[in-house]
Amino acid sequence: MKSSVEKRVAGGRDVDEITGGRRLRRMRKADWSRRLVQENQLTVNDLIWPVFIIDGENRREDIPAMPGVQRVTIDLLVREAERAAKLGIPSIATFPNVDLSLRDDTGSAILDPDNLINRATRALKAEVPEIGVITDVALDPFTSHGHDGILRDGIIVNDETVEQLATAAVHQAAAGADIIAPSDMMDGRVGAIRDALDANGFADVAIMSYATKFASAFYGPYREAIGTQGLLKGDKKTYYIDPANTDEALRETEQDIAEGADMVMVKPGLPYLDIVWRLKETFQLPTFAYQVSGEYSMIKAASANGWIDGERAMMESLLAFKRAGCDGILTYFAPEAAERLQG
Ligand code: PBG
Repeated sequence: MKSSVEKRVAGGRDVDEITGGRRLRRMRKADWSRRLVQENQLTVNDLIWPVFIIDGENRREDIPAMPGVQRVTIDLLVREAERAAKLGIPSIATFPNVDLSLRDDTGSAILDPDNLINRATRALKAEVPEIGVITDVALDPFTSHGHDGILRDGIIVNDETVEQLATAAVHQAAAGADIIAPSDMMDGRVGAIRDALDANGFADVAIMSYATKFASAFYGPYREAIGTQGLLKGDKKTYYIDPANTDEALRETEQDIAEGADMVMVKPGLPYLDIVWRLKETFQLPTFAYQVSGEYSMIKAASANGWIDGERAMMESLLAFKRAGCDGILTYFAPEAAERLQG
């Protein structure tokens, strides 16, 4: 092998004098040595795949703002889940695009044991039992205003929302959900959901709290995916965290853990890796990040324009989550990344 070292004197000293002989490029010189000293690794076991569901049969819809992602009917979802399970992806997270006629002020359809999300869970658990099902217990797909809470006189009311979410979580568990993921940031929702699950015989259903969910612009494409983009009035700043805050994110997480969260999540992902790192260092709990729709679409768009190598950017971004301390990542890239990881 050729050496990269040619002895030169620059500015009076040679490089060994400058570095004291510590040449960090030594271990980077070949593929085998780079692999040998690699500190972090991404595996398929780290992937959670978020999927979008619609009513009907044998239908798929493109989501223009999320190239490569589709909304699918439950029968097709089952097939996608089979494919994901074959790829070794441990779990999927379901998000419904509910027919507009079923949305109302309070998001009451979330309480229907036979709503889209619960029917999807039942089908998944019946047909693909080996894959874990994570359900988002959230009102936004069900409200006519696109908010994650019940809106009364222009205010998102906390306690009434929590009560409704706790009941919805029991229906989701009854349908077979393995993990309930509350994404609304109401105060007290983790404890209320834990109590409701326990009281109804679902002590083994886990809670992954969206512990630190920031009021972010990166959710844009998701709103198109679940059909709330034209509906949302105002913003979500009275319940999601200000992107400027770190200590508040820690307090939120501490609170969720005290209330019974089994796993915590940071959302969005890449712009908030400092939060991931700080949570993992502080709490040593299973810690996840959600690489959200906007992050996905940015990589896809730049790649489609030929500005970056999309596949490498995908793998690099996912590895960055591992480096920051994530135990797993919710990512729309899950099947693509899994295929890549399986060679
Ligand atoms: C809300 C919810 C959102 C996402 C997941 N759950 C959007 C929001 O809070 O406005 C975003 C996911 C993404 O952008 O990929 N229940």
